[in-house]
Amino acid sequence: MTGSPITQHTPKSPKEGDENPSGEKEEDATPTADQQRQMEQAFSQMKRKMTIQEMGDKIKHKIMVLSGKGGVGKSTVATGLALSLANQGNTVGLLDIDITGPNVPKMLGLGGHRLNVEGGRIFPAVGQRGVKVISMAFLLESDDTPVVWRGPIKLGAIQQFIGDVEWGELDYLVIDFPPGSSDEPLTVAQSLPNIDGMVIVTTPQEVALLDSRKSVGFANSLKVPVIGIVENMSGYTIHGTAQANQTISVTGPTNEIIEITANEAGDWSVTLDIFKQGGGQTTAEEMDVPFLGRLPFDPGVIRGGDDGVHRIVAQPEGESAIAFASIVEAIKKQIKDNKDSQSSGGLEII
Ligand SMILES: Nc1ncnc2c1ncn2[C@@H]1O[C@H](COP(=O)(O)OP(=O)(O)O)[C@@H](O)[C@H]1O
Ligand SMILES: [Mg+2]
Repeated sequence: MTGSPITQHTPKSPKEGDENPSGEKEEDATPTADQQRQMEQAFSQMKRKMTIQEMGDKIKHKIMVLSGKGGVGKSTVATGLALSLANQGNTVGLLDIDITGPNVPKMLGLGGHRLNVEGGRIFPAVGQRGVKVISMAFLLESDDTPVVWRGPIKLGAIQQFIGDVEWGELDYLVIDFPPGSSDEPLTVAQSLPNIDGMVIVTTPQEVALLDSRKSVGFANSLKVPVIGIVENMSGYTIHGTAQANQTISVTGPTNEIIEITANEAGDWSVTLDIFKQGGGQTTAEEMDVPFLGRLPFDPGVIRGGDDGVHRIVAQPEGESAIAFASIVEAIKKQIKDNKDSQSSGGLEII
């Protein structure tokens, strides 16, 4: 692949003075170095296409994770879904193709890992819960190097990440993208066969929701089914203790007074909708796509991202892990429903 950051071909130059059996010089039949390079490229493209087809069969489910806007927790959700699926005993791969902010490896304790290439094949790193990870970050000189790649190089790298990676047999491949309707999802949608669909991540605020409406339109234009919308950072629960049955008041995010009564043991808790609430569901209803569930605002998620231990691994019985598990169930159900309606002719098969 021309300009590929992963492999470089050194074309063999034609041997000088090669002759055919009749003793005549084969000037016209001998390809030039340039022609040979083109042939090698065409061959490797064809081989990659076949490998991708084969890989399409070896990977049972492929899920794209997108958002219209950055910072809504797309990478956190992609990583959480991968871990949650792996927790259930699935073999899972996670492909992070966000060149501008590839932070998936850090979330899985794989910061600093570099790409492992052997015999022209790329081997994924293995993160927590056995999740196989390939990330654009593995190509960087250092974790803080900003990457400015020209479009064709970027797309070439993505195709190699799809076609040249030894994923082995996978139950699920989760793919994390940069925000917005960039070239990356288009390249993946065009290269990878049988994508189950797209999970759209949003936060509850109005601006993020507008963006997720655009993402639904984008999925339609890619002819990738929408699996559904996840509302992230939806409500922050605080806990406290008081006297048994005592009523206490808490000042809410918009200065409203919330009264809560403690239970017999004196425990109380209240969920504050710091970024409003329910917007993801409203958008899903408006756009007629499934709502997959809410993930709470959880400061442990931020710490986990920095420490390299995802919240799901650090606290497998915690509120976030439970919310992720329920979203995974909703995704699996939706994938099945989409397949059923495809086989009954309800959806276009891509
Ligand atoms: N549910 C959550 N609770 C608290 N912080 C979160 C949550 N989801 C994501 N974050 C934090 O928000 C920031 C952006 O998340 P990230 O997954 O990198 O977003 P994106 O991939 O959409 O740019 C990170 O610091 C992350 O730890
Ligand atoms: Mg991200």
